[in-house]
Amino acid sequence: MDEKRKILVTGGLGFIGSHTVVCLQEAGFEPVIVDSLHNSRIEVLDALTDLIGYKPVFICGDVNDKILMQGVFAQQKPVAVIHFAAHKAVGESVDQPLLYYQNNVAGLLNLLEVMKAESCHQLVFSSSCTVYGEAQEVPVKESTPILPAASPYGATKQMGETILRDLNWCRVQCLRYFNPVGAHPSSRIGELPLGIPNNLIPYLTQTVSGIRSLLTVHGGDYITQDGTCIRDYIHVMDLAEAHVAAINRLISGIGFDTNSNEVGDPSTQQFEVFNVGTGIGYSVLEIITAFEDATGEKVIYKIGPRRAGDIVSIWADTHKANAILGWNAKRNLDEMMADAWNWQRHCDKASLG
Ligand code: UFG
Repeated sequence: MDEKRKILVTGGLGFIGSHTVVCLQEAGFEPVIVDSLHNSRIEVLDALTDLIGYKPVFICGDVNDKILMQGVFAQQKPVAVIHFAAHKAVGESVDQPLLYYQNNVAGLLNLLEVMKAESCHQLVFSSSCTVYGEAQEVPVKESTPILPAASPYGATKQMGETILRDLNWCRVQCLRYFNPVGAHPSSRIGELPLGIPNNLIPYLTQTVSGIRSLLTVHGGDYITQDGTCIRDYIHVMDLAEAHVAAINRLISGIGFDTNSNEVGDPSTQQFEVFNVGTGIGYSVLEIITAFEDATGEKVIYKIGPRRAGDIVSIWADTHKANAILGWNAKRNLDEMMADAWNWQRHCDKASLG
């Protein structure tokens, strides 16, 4: 295959990474995966092999390993990188901040140094709606002010954005994800939380499948329509497709001055940021009802105390991504819930998770 179409996907065996690998292949790219298996499983590679019809190139390693990354770039010569590899648990980041700064910030710097040395100048970066904190107004726009980070994890995403905004040799698409849920419709890949899940949907599906005894709704006394927090849940396949749209925009050079690749030109846009959500906010109780309606299963839950650090309400203004990336979220809440449940049943059968 034409090596110009190779896309290096760090963290390509993770939740969002694996779905993006499938979408890249469908769009005619050749995904090359680097993953440390720190928070992912090698079984995902077999599932990807089945889904895309061939075994993708997979290098087991850490983005912090400069020698390894130099070898990957020299051998694979990717035209662009999608950088998923990062730690993502808010609570863990409070307990182990150095781990987060090392992996998420130093790992990014290491990757960038290698990219520069190997003349790879195009990057899609995984950011998060966490950069907005408790925003003054919703929906949040890309121009909504960034507030001080509520956790080391959030700080690493803000720092990542700052570093990338300052580069004058690399074209960057920075995607601020809202809450990814669901799974590939085949149920071959999905979210594989190691240990007790932190996030709502895996905790909910594990409760319904009997692995957990009940779901605790964290707080029922917020100033929202039903007292529970509001988020913008997005199907992981829609999120994966946003990465393909971002890669297509990078590679086409639209929006960027391709002649000013090496020399910084402040008048040239090298960095773009997009919200990637559906534009609709749902409360925790609405999610529970939607799950029950989509699957016919009953969710056993209780309202518990608030969870420290939770934002009350956030959802995305997606107009920029819709207009500039030409991307829209297509899958509704019903599909998100049905696919999440089918994936849980697959995991139960295969003794995964
Ligand atoms: N929730 C529950 N019970 C649970 C788990 C979650 O009620 O067992 C609630 C939370 O309180 C919140 C909502 O469900 O209101 C969503 O919580 P998640 O943990 O699924 O997601 P968050 O919005 O907290 O997390 C998201 C991303 C993270 C990111 C974080 C930053 O998934 O990667 O936003 O705020 F870091």
